[in-house]
Amino acid sequence: MKHLLSVTDAKQDIFELLKLAAYFKEYPVVKKPLKNKTLAMIFEKASTRTRISFEVAMYHLGGSPLYLSASDMQLGRGEIIEDTAKVMSRYVDGVMIRAKEHQEVQKFAENSDVPVINGLTNKEHPCQAITDIFTIYEHKKSYNLKMAYLGDGNNVCNSLLLACALIGMDMTVVCPSGYEPDLEIFEEAQMFAEETGSNIQITSNVLEGIKDADVIYTDVWVSMGDEDEKLQRMIDLNDYQVNMELLSHTKPDTIVMHCLPAIRGQEITDEVMKSSQSVIWDQAENRMHVQAAILSTLLKNDE
Ligand code: CP
Ligand code: NVA
Repeated sequence: MKHLLSVTDAKQDIFELLKLAAYFKEYPVVKKPLKNKTLAMIFEKASTRTRISFEVAMYHLGGSPLYLSASDMQLGRGEIIEDTAKVMSRYVDGVMIRAKEHQEVQKFAENSDVPVINGLTNKEHPCQAITDIFTIYEHKKSYNLKMAYLGDGNNVCNSLLLACALIGMDMTVVCPSGYEPDLEIFEEAQMFAEETGSNIQITSNVLEGIKDADVIYTDVWVSMGDEDEKLQRMIDLNDYQVNMELLSHTKPDTIVMHCLPAIRGQEITDEVMKSSQSVIWDQAENRMHVQAAILSTLLKNDE
């Protein structure tokens, strides 16, 4: 794996990454594998978890993170991403980018001599999805499971489709018409699913979609960049809320996940977040361990 722009980039490495993340979670890092390494982190959108977990993971591994707000860089004044990538490759050992447009991250990677990690774009959130698989295994000790994803078929949903298909987990996206995940990604996931035997589906029927689910997953109805559509989204997605009534149709050991931030009263209720079925806080913590695995794999010392 040279870059991590999409979950597909981790196709060959995913089980190694999951194993390494479990190791980092269990044992403190003593050998500091990223000593003298610098990770630049460019943010074009807001972040709490991604920024903090990457920064802390870099410190744990012995390296230094560098936080950069895109609007404070010359990027915000019209310098092109290709030039930025060429220059930054001369200074740092890796770059994490959270960008509005997925193509911008691809352009950055094409012009970068150092590894590039997608920290969320309009199309994918690979670090989140790999972490989610890690969290599911931590709680269920199996990949032979079914996830039901409810709500907006957004960036997180796209990456989860690829991740589930790669590891052989079934996934049903439960969403109203017009909110389906990216068609190209869905087809790519189906190709992986044929190899791994997982079952990937989309339905607008909530009860049918959540039937036998081991994992109920949801994300915000209004992603960053979709704010203009807020009112329409509230109407269209209203029947897809993860609430206690919905949970009453699941198994007692079905777990509930949310990548956060959560908007209580929209895609999920406060009661569900606090319920014994919620693994949301473990999920947030695990971002740090999985990213430590990703960073140490991509930025490792050549010595
Ligand atoms: N889940 C996630 O990526 O959170 P942040 O937007 O806070 O980074
Ligand atoms: N789908 C959300 C995820 C935030 C982590 C967004 O893109 O805003």
